[in-house]
Amino acid sequence: MKRATAILISGRGSNMQSLVRACQDPDFPARIELVASNKADAPGLDWARDQGLPTLALTRSPGEGRADFDTRLDRALTDRGIDLVCLAGYMRLLTAGFTERWQGRLLNIHPSLLPSFPGLDAQAQAHRARVRVTGCTVHFVDSGLDSGPIIDQRALHLEPRESLESLSSRLLALEHALYPECLKQVAAQQVQLIDGRAIWR
Ligand code: GRF
Repeated sequence: MKRATAILISGRGSNMQSLVRACQDPDFPARIELVASNKADAPGLDWARDQGLPTLALTRSPGEGRADFDTRLDRALTDRGIDLVCLAGYMRLLTAGFTERWQGRLLNIHPSLLPSFPGLDAQAQAHRARVRVTGCTVHFVDSGLDSGPIIDQRALHLEPRESLESLSSRLLALEHALYPECLKQVAAQQVQLIDGRAIWR
């Protein structure tokens, strides 16, 4: 049985596209049931709509707190029978209540080899630090910032004097390969969150 999956975005949604494409394989163990964005004008939403996917723009109401917003988000997901959630450039911090409810079923992708360089502009952080190796990470989401149990990572070696633009684009290509692979393994329960760790079968 395919696992009903939602993707949450805030922007261009290139990782969302790679997940959607992977799910088009009849043997893939997940199907995309919803693409939701906290930004009504996210370019990724237009792309998803053009693909005929169900979309939702869930924007914060004036004065609405984070917990109330996340409760609405949670309801939108549960009402649609969503089982797994992939964050793909979703630029809002989720409340602990939300991450606890979705524990083990909530994934994120981050453009560094966590736990190095969490937070914003991870590619630039790595570039500035002049590391020789960086990469990307898919992890289960907990209430911390990019701190949840790591599912898998891909690494690359920086070229001498490589520009930030080149590094960012090579990292993005790695992300597009890694995220579908991780969703596949989680959906097929080849990797599960057990006692706060990602355990592979
Ligand atoms: C990606 O680099 C992802 O790792 C990070 O945000 C960026 C989103 O890019 N969390 P896109 O919207 O998927 O193109």
